Amino acid sequence: MTKVFGHRGSKGYFPENTLLSFHEAIRAGVDGIELDVHLTKDRQLVVIHDATVDRTFDGSGYVKDFNLVDLKRLKLNQSFKSFTHYQSTWDLERIPTLEEALEIFALAKIDLNIELKTTQFDYPGIEEMVISCVKQYAPSLNVIYSSFHLPTLARLRACDPNCNIGFLVEQPIPLLQDYLKQFQLNKIHLDKSLIKHIKMTSDISMQDIKVWTVNKTSELIYFLNKEVDTIITDFPDRALQIRHELKANSS
Ligand code: G3P
Ligand code: CA
Repeated sequence: MTKVFGHRGSKGYFPENTLLSFHEAIRAGVDGIELDVHLTKDRQLVVIHDATVDRTFDGSGYVKDFNLVDLKRLKLNQSFKSFTHYQSTWDLERIPTLEEALEIFALAKIDLNIELKTTQFDYPGIEEMVISCVKQYAPSLNVIYSSFHLPTLARLRACDPNCNIGFLVEQPIPLLQDYLKQFQLNKIHLDKSLIKHIKMTSDISMQDIKVWTVNKTSELIYFLNKEVDTIITDFPDRALQIRHELKANSS
């Protein structure tokens, strides 16, 4: 059965990559959650999508130029007040550390996809730090690490020969199966528009593919019928409902 992962928690409904967003995705019944990590100036792993804080919080500048204590002072950007379910309690949300997020997932017993955001800054040592953090705070969690940055994936593999690694792909790559073999990658995390470029071979099956970011009903039905390994979506409740209906109709 195709798994449903909440993108940055429950990004369509709640402030992305916050503990609130993670709790709500878990409450919706997701099989897993996807989140993004960067490194602060004082080398703390934090959960945020952009390299800068500007879009999602009320400060300005690169995450890498903040110490954690200063990042933690930032409040959510006013733009989240326009969300349908906005409540004033949301204003208490802060940029989470990876450790804080892992403590939630360790209890929730769902899967986790940690994306290392290393395309703009390489954050030397981040791969080993992320793997160690998981081993310390959620050792029994089923985690897959992903990145658009191939050297990061190679470093993850060198740090842990047994970890699960997903290659984020946003443009057609000829001979993709060669990348999987050469870099010992476990999954392809595919931009949904690229599915037509993927040729099923003995080396690549739908079970090797996680697609992002699938939000429209028609697309959710399409990828659920294709039986890809995982759908990553901003609207996990929608995906879970459609999966339930498709299953009910087929039995
Ligand atoms: O991991 C899938 C997806 O999150 C990758 O793109 O930009 O949303 O991090 P982005
Ligand atoms: Ca991501």
